[in-house]
Amino acid sequence: MKRHITVFNPSITPWILLKAVFTGNGDEFCRNWFSNHTQKKHVLITSSCRNALWLAYRAYGIHAEVITTPLICYSALESALSAGQYLHFCDLAERSILMDEELITECIGENTGFIQATHQGGQMVNMRKIRSIADHHDLRVIEDCAQAFGSHRDGIQAGLLGDVACFTLSKNCYGLGGGILATNDKDIYLKAKSLQDELPHFSHKLLVFRMVRYLLETYSGNFLADLLFAMMMGHRDKRLKLPGYINGDKIKRTKPSRLFAMLFKVQQPRFEALHQQTSCLANKIIQALDRLGIPSFTSMEQSSYPKFFFSHQSFKSERMIPELVHEGIEAKHLENSYGSPLQPRIEESGISEFSSGLERCRNYAYLYDKIVNLPLHHAMSDEQTDYLTETLHKIIHAKDSH
Ligand SMILES: Cc1ncc(COP(=O)(O)O)c(C=O)c1O
Repeated sequence: MKRHITVFNPSITPWILLKAVFTGNGDEFCRNWFSNHTQKKHVLITSSCRNALWLAYRAYGIHAEVITTPLICYSALESALSAGQYLHFCDLAERSILMDEELITECIGENTGFIQATHQGGQMVNMRKIRSIADHHDLRVIEDCAQAFGSHRDGIQAGLLGDVACFTLSKNCYGLGGGILATNDKDIYLKAKSLQDELPHFSHKLLVFRMVRYLLETYSGNFLADLLFAMMMGHRDKRLKLPGYINGDKIKRTKPSRLFAMLFKVQQPRFEALHQQTSCLANKIIQALDRLGIPSFTSMEQSSYPKFFFSHQSFKSERMIPELVHEGIEAKHLENSYGSPLQPRIEESGISEFSSGLERCRNYAYLYDKIVNLPLHHAMSDEQTDYLTETLHKIIHAKDSH
């Protein structure tokens, strides 16, 4: 199927890869950069954000309840679960894709140990509020910044106020993988590091697969690149089983490849310009949706654009995401996996056995099947943004006339 608009553009060219290989000490640069960015003394480079989250939970060495949001991709939840934690879901705020901080206090029980402050789609939860609740109840805050690199709210950067801040080096760091665990707690850092030292190395095969995949994604729109990409992903999807969200054994925990930090060093000078371009396109799309009479039910305004969520009363995710994909628009739901446009409800995922609180999440239940993650990246053309908004409008209105 034609991919007119890909969900994201990794912006990795052969030149960037070559520069990364010859860049020298990426680790030190990356650690210093994040230490400065998060104002935290200790920074561990990990093989992904989910590994950073898992290491953080394991490093605390306790099994407790984690208060978090239900409306998120499973990669944000599986780490706590596979580190032996239990989840308690806190509902979303009205007309928001974020957990309602006002409800956190009533979610706290005698087994609560953590708040996983998960920012989403570049929008940040209120970290000042969460910090003060956590301090009051002696809870640890694990800040999941995978969807908030470069975001800020009320003058606070994502990653600043969590006890541990976790980032991904993919998404809008334009890397091939990798993650960050940043903390001021030396004990937690040392425990996380020694746990990571015991893990196997990152697979070379997977690294080569990602290099080829991301190069092809960067050149999407080119006939040959699209053909090779479809063949490659088709072959992979046949071999892949459904990920084990709960069974930690099925998820590979590894040390990071040194290439992750090297790529970060090479891509970092480009971030500002790439983020600026993306932000201009986002504003254009938001204005076009307003003009077309389909403004999003939840805000699309944000300070960074790793994902771009649109929701609407008349949008039916289960039916309309495949329709968008059929029109060549690589829309996603909550999860980013290739070929899976709809993430199952928590109730159907097996996670509910290891969690509580979902029955009180009415805003989540309402929004779950009215939301879509639209493609958005710096490399989109004006024609593509027009095509995106017009197709969305057409699909929503076709439903209205049914
Ligand atoms: C909120 C959130 N947390 C964690 C992750 C996992 O990030 P990574 O792919 O680096 O493991 C993701 C990835 O999509 C995410 O969106």
